[in-house]
Amino acid sequence: MPSTTPDRNLALELVRVTEAAALASARWIGRGDKEAADQAAVDAMRSVLGTIAMDGMVVIGEGEKDEAPMLYNGENIGNGTPPQVDIAVDPLEGTTLTAKGMPNALAVIALAEKGSMFDPGPCVYMEKLAGASDIVDLLDLDRPIEETVKLIAERRGVSINDITVVVLDRPRHVDQINKIRSAGARVRLIADGDVAGCLLAISERTIVDLLWGIGGSPEGVLSACAVKCMGGELVARLAPRNETEKQAALDLGYDLEKQLTSNDLVRSDNCFFSATGVTGGDLLEGVRYVGARGATTESLVMRSTSGTVRRIKATHDRHKMQEFSAGKLG
Ligand code: FBP
Repeated sequence: MPSTTPDRNLALELVRVTEAAALASARWIGRGDKEAADQAAVDAMRSVLGTIAMDGMVVIGEGEKDEAPMLYNGENIGNGTPPQVDIAVDPLEGTTLTAKGMPNALAVIALAEKGSMFDPGPCVYMEKLAGASDIVDLLDLDRPIEETVKLIAERRGVSINDITVVVLDRPRHVDQINKIRSAGARVRLIADGDVAGCLLAISERTIVDLLWGIGGSPEGVLSACAVKCMGGELVARLAPRNETEKQAALDLGYDLEKQLTSNDLVRSDNCFFSATGVTGGDLLEGVRYVGARGATTESLVMRSTSGTVRRIKATHDRHKMQEFSAGKLG
């Protein structure tokens, strides 16, 4: 009897999924059409995902079924054979980055044991704080951010001037940005893409020490899967946008004060994560076209149980891939 929990390295199959999404959406880099870029990523991701032997359900997807014809929350994916898994997708994390030809857009997917991923319900946003393994105990959303950056500098034995916090460039973050700068630390503003920001913050020896900010809840769950594979920590707190959202969350029993850790966001220790660069950035190379039919991609592929993080560079023959996919998918 096959195991119902994932016992093979699904991440090595997931990399095909994010590569396909990246290759498809990269055709739209710099063309000013974020919807088309996103749609191309969704279509390609869905096609390849459907070929994987699993019994998966999308729990973090493109939204409700009526708005999203594919990869909607609740959609069953795979050929229906075990293992049973929860699926979180962001086929194009950084739609505007792609449309504008800006760095750090990614195609992202994560899988975990069935029933283990956090459902943020009506809360579109979470406040997030993430860092590498040596500062996990310093991550506390209740502590003023200026104190946290000072403690990180002390822990790392560096000047506070050498601490960099990556923050989404949003008007709602202005006060905190000012506090970080007043403490003497640096702020690296990003236009979009806090999954890439989190990956940079939890990785050792990058230009970023900490991620802080209010960003998407789905991106929070995806980031938590990466944390469980790579180490470091993400703490998050639901951040309702208005009273209606707040009341809806309270009525459903959500605790809006609780600091959620990566273990709350993904309860299973058996999870998989893959991200492929769409536009090049600090983390990954973007899709590069080689001649009339070639392309290269770079991906980060990880599994929590083994803790293995693979960086996979691939060379693709786009014509052969299309013929192969058309034959395989009918
Ligand atoms: P896209 O959905 O356009 O890809 O944007 C991604 C993103 O920047 C996330 O990385 C982030 O969590 C979220 O949007 C922030 O939301 P908002 O743009 O509403 O502040």
